Amino acid sequence: MSAARLLVRDLAQLATPAGREAPLRGPALGAVDVLEDAYVLCAGNTIEAVGRMHELPPLDGDVVEVDGRGLSAIPGLVDCHTHPAFGGDRVEEFSLRAAGASYEDLHARGGGILSTVNATRAAGETGLREAVERHCGWMRAHGTTTFEGKSGYGLDRDTELASLRAVRDAGGVPTWLGAHAVPPEFDGDADAYLDFALAEVLPEAAQLAEAADVFLERGAFDATRARRYLEACRDAGLALRLHGDQFTEQGAIPLAIELGARSVDHLEATGDEGVRALAGSGVVGVVLPASALFLGRPMPPARALVDAGAAIALATDFNPGSAFCESLPLCCSLAATQLKLAPAEALGACTVNAAHVLGRADRLGRLAPGFRADLVLLDAPDWRYLAYHLGGDLVARVVLAGELR
Ligand code: NIG
Ligand code: FE
Repeated sequence: MSAARLLVRDLAQLATPAGREAPLRGPALGAVDVLEDAYVLCAGNTIEAVGRMHELPPLDGDVVEVDGRGLSAIPGLVDCHTHPAFGGDRVEEFSLRAAGASYEDLHARGGGILSTVNATRAAGETGLREAVERHCGWMRAHGTTTFEGKSGYGLDRDTELASLRAVRDAGGVPTWLGAHAVPPEFDGDADAYLDFALAEVLPEAAQLAEAADVFLERGAFDATRARRYLEACRDAGLALRLHGDQFTEQGAIPLAIELGARSVDHLEATGDEGVRALAGSGVVGVVLPASALFLGRPMPPARALVDAGAAIALATDFNPGSAFCESLPLCCSLAATQLKLAPAEALGACTVNAAHVLGRADRLGRLAPGFRADLVLLDAPDWRYLAYHLGGDLVARVVLAGELR
């Protein structure tokens, strides 16, 4: 049980995306309300009030107080795209890439994702649970209070379902990435693998997961197979996500729009037409600058997307191969320095808009009465250190559902 009430007082600043709508587009993405000398009052797991210290009414009853002097409060960060359910690591591959090998070549030679599939199958359910808990702890230490977590490194029935349970039980939002790669026992036969996955895994995955995801790319699943997978998942009640335009444009954006997907994620290869199409749609473009940085790829056209009126979210893509990075603050720094987003736009993209991708923008992503009491206290006199303090030790405290962590 959380204490009856928690008061974070004397904050140097409090910053929250303005208004109540979601997703935020265009100029609204950069609109942040900032209060100086502020407080947040939480009752149980919900925010009761936020305001300036001089407006704080006398409080009766049990109130735990937290000294916010010198700190800035922002909403708990929402990471809407992670792959935390894996065994082993890819440090050897990382070293090879550092010396010049390409990610796609390693993947084509049976390394990459498939090497993590072997390690994940070998981890067993207990090993997977431990891994997800550990990764979730790393995320929390960087201010993430809600994470989405994908399966996709099991690609057999038991390991996929164990991955989804591990994410759920660690408090995450599970996504079934059943179409991540064709596992070795199917010998490159993507259709036979999908026959299996849709018949044998989807019925139970649909009970555990909230969404389904597919890697639509050269060397992974083409648009025809992605459509087959996504339509079956939609019919089973799952929301839809796509990994698209990571290396090449293969029709992910038109497919996402046609199927009413929640998001299309990556977009490093998206051209002007894709930007226009997304802007005219309800699909969120999720940008993953840590992945582009880690692989030495071009950055996604986030500035053009925002300027065209598309809704974007910002996420880590935490995974062992293309983005071994759990820090949303670092992604905010990359957003500011590489994607040309203002700190305020980065904040909106990894709070309100990320919560929208997860279907939770009514409760998550803002510091306002009625929202879940998730907050990050930054060791900073100005909330924009979120992007400014590159790789810094920025997170002083995290409040999760009204409990101080
Ligand atoms: O989002 N692109 C596909 N999937 C992951 C990477 C997976 C891996 O390399 O293990 C991604 O980047
Ligand atoms: Fe990913």
